[in-house]
Amino acid sequence: MKFDTKVVQSGMTPDPTTGAIVPPIYQTATYVLDEVGKDKGFDYTRSSNPTRQIMEEVLADLDGGKFGVAFASGMSAVDSVMKLLKAGDHVVCSDDVYGGVSRHFNQILVNYNLHFTYVDSSNPTNIENAIQANTKLIWVETPTNPLLKITDLEAVGNIAKKHNILFGVDSTFATPVFLRPLEFGADLVMHSTTKYLSGHNQLIGGIVITNREDLFNQLKFVQKTIGAVPGPFDCWLTLLGIKTLDLRMKKHDANAQIVAEYLEAHPKVSSVTYPGLPSHPSHKIAKKQMSGFSGMISFELTNGILAGETVMNSVKLAKLAESLGSVETMITHPATMTHADVPQEEREARGLTDGLVRLSVGIENADDIIADLEQALNQV
Ligand SMILES: Cc1ncc(COP(=O)(O)O)c(C=O)c1O
Repeated sequence: MKFDTKVVQSGMTPDPTTGAIVPPIYQTATYVLDEVGKDKGFDYTRSSNPTRQIMEEVLADLDGGKFGVAFASGMSAVDSVMKLLKAGDHVVCSDDVYGGVSRHFNQILVNYNLHFTYVDSSNPTNIENAIQANTKLIWVETPTNPLLKITDLEAVGNIAKKHNILFGVDSTFATPVFLRPLEFGADLVMHSTTKYLSGHNQLIGGIVITNREDLFNQLKFVQKTIGAVPGPFDCWLTLLGIKTLDLRMKKHDANAQIVAEYLEAHPKVSSVTYPGLPSHPSHKIAKKQMSGFSGMISFELTNGILAGETVMNSVKLAKLAESLGSVETMITHPATMTHADVPQEEREARGLTDGLVRLSVGIENADDIIADLEQALNQV
């Protein structure tokens, strides 16, 4: 089955009791047992829920995985992966990750005696060099948030296998439309379903996908024990969003390419980062492992931070907001918004400057997005 058919057809089993074509929202906390020790496969919604289960199966299917475990947010999905580790374990992590992930690792998990080394994962050798005797997990984002660095998943998958280390990929920016990390040797794929997968700025959610039954069982145990689960209505909304995922992503990708080329040619813009531009340092790797480059762009202005602020305050169609991956174009200032909790020295060391502007290109007409940016750039 082709991918664009799969996003529509996956999980489409008519409801067994009514034949409803859309899965019902099983808005229930618990389930009545037939007799002691005999249930119908569900006993309590923290452990499992039919609407959630359909969403978990569909999202696993789209990423080419056997198992999906859903969480209440992308962050609780990341946290649950970290719960596979034990005190004393070490993680090698991409140096450019979502600010909430850095905050979680550096301000919470370090207190539980977990250790982190951050490396520029766009060079696989950096990852291999950072491996220690107690390294249990390699965790990468690709493309990263917000600098859109690309990790060669096949190369890192081989390193993980050679050293017998778990390999997890936050694939939120790419989506399974453009990249399926399990095909390149990842053990775990994670998405913030808040973003492209649900796609309409309507909820917060997360998912972890794997082909390994042992990891699935451990994650299910974490899910039911800690209970950071999404509500049935949010799962239902995500399933609705998924139906148009392929269409939306192709439009995000096409628009972002046009907007990135426009920005790159603009005299007031000093640099543009988009994996679909030949000027991107990992364009070739991105092209090798992804079938599209998705909808995220970051750029800097020739006149620095004040010019960037003028653009972000002057856009009208694009909305100045945290988050990304929705149908509407959104603009973000990572230094004061999504990555505000990353200390300034660390941001600077990563190359995340105060002048950086992040654009989540929506699915409007590209001419209108460019007209909006043009009028904002004219204010500079
Ligand atoms: C790449 C990435 N991973 C994880 C998260 C966290 O997801 P959530 O906001 O759903 O908790 C985000 C949020 O922006 C993100 O951009």
